[in-house]
Amino acid sequence: MVGAPGAGKGTQAERLGARLGLVHVASGDLFREVAAQDGPLARQVEQAMAQGRLVPDDVTVRLVLDRLARPDVRDTGAILDGFPRTGPQAEALDTALRKQGARVDQALYVGVREPELRRRLSGRWLCRAAGHPYHVVEHPPRVPGACDIDGSPLYQREDDRPETVQARLEQQLPPMYDVVDHYTERGILTAVDGEQSIDEVTAALVQVIAAVAPAR
Ligand code: AP5
Repeated sequence: MVGAPGAGKGTQAERLGARLGLVHVASGDLFREVAAQDGPLARQVEQAMAQGRLVPDDVTVRLVLDRLARPDVRDTGAILDGFPRTGPQAEALDTALRKQGARVDQALYVGVREPELRRRLSGRWLCRAAGHPYHVVEHPPRVPGACDIDGSPLYQREDDRPETVQARLEQQLPPMYDVVDHYTERGILTAVDGEQSIDEVTAALVQVIAAVAPAR
C-alpha cells in the first residue's frame, strides 16, 4: 500500500489483511518496535521518526526483508504498509522477491490531499496493544479512550504533532511519488480515491484485488 502519511494505509491494510488472510507488515510498526529498544540503531530510528525523516534505505530494507523471510509471510503472503517508500527500496524489494521466485502482485495507491491528511493526523488515536487506529470524528472508539478490538488504552503519536506532520509531508511525499512511478511503469499500480469513507475505500481496494487476484 502506497500513500502519504495519514492516507489510511494502516486502517486499510489491517482490514484487507484480515479479510484476505494476508500478514499485515507495517514498516512504521517495525520501527516503533526497534525504537523502543536500547542501542545505537534504536536511537537512530527514534531520531529519524521524531524529526519526520525517513530512516535510511539500507536499515529499512534489511529490517523489512528480515520480517518478510519469516514463515508466516512465506506461507501466505503479505500486505505491505508503508514500504517501499523510496525508489531504491522498491528496487531492493523487487530484487529480493525475484530471487525467491516471487513478486509484488499489486501496488495500491491511496490518494488523499494535504489538508485532509493534516486533519486526519491531528485527530488520530492509536491503541497501545496493537496500534489499531481511530479518529476523534471519523472513527471514534465505542468506549472513549479504549480500543474496540482489544480494550487497551488509546494514545496520540509523538510524530502527529503539527510541526512533525509538516516535516513528514515535505520530506516523504517526493520519494513516495518515485514509488508510484516505479509501479506505474511496471503496470501494476492502481490508484484509489482515499477521501471516500473508510468502508468505501475498503470496498474499492477489495474490488481491485479481486480483479488482479481472483483466488483472494
Ligand atoms: P508510519 O507509521 O508508516 O507512518 P506514515 O506513513 O506517516 O503513515 P501513518 O501511519 O501516519 O498513516 P496511515 O496512512 O497508516 O493512516 P491511518 O490508517 O493511521 O511511519 C512512521 C515513521 O517511520 C516515518 O515517518 C519514518 O520516519 C519511518 N518509516 C516508516 N516506513 C519507512 C520506510 N519504508 N522507509 C523509511 N522510513 C520509514 O489513518 C490516519 C487517520 O485517519 C486515523 O485516525 C484514521 O482513523 C483516519 N482515517 C483513515 N481512513 C480514513 C477515511 N477514509 N476517512 C476519514 N478518516 C480516515
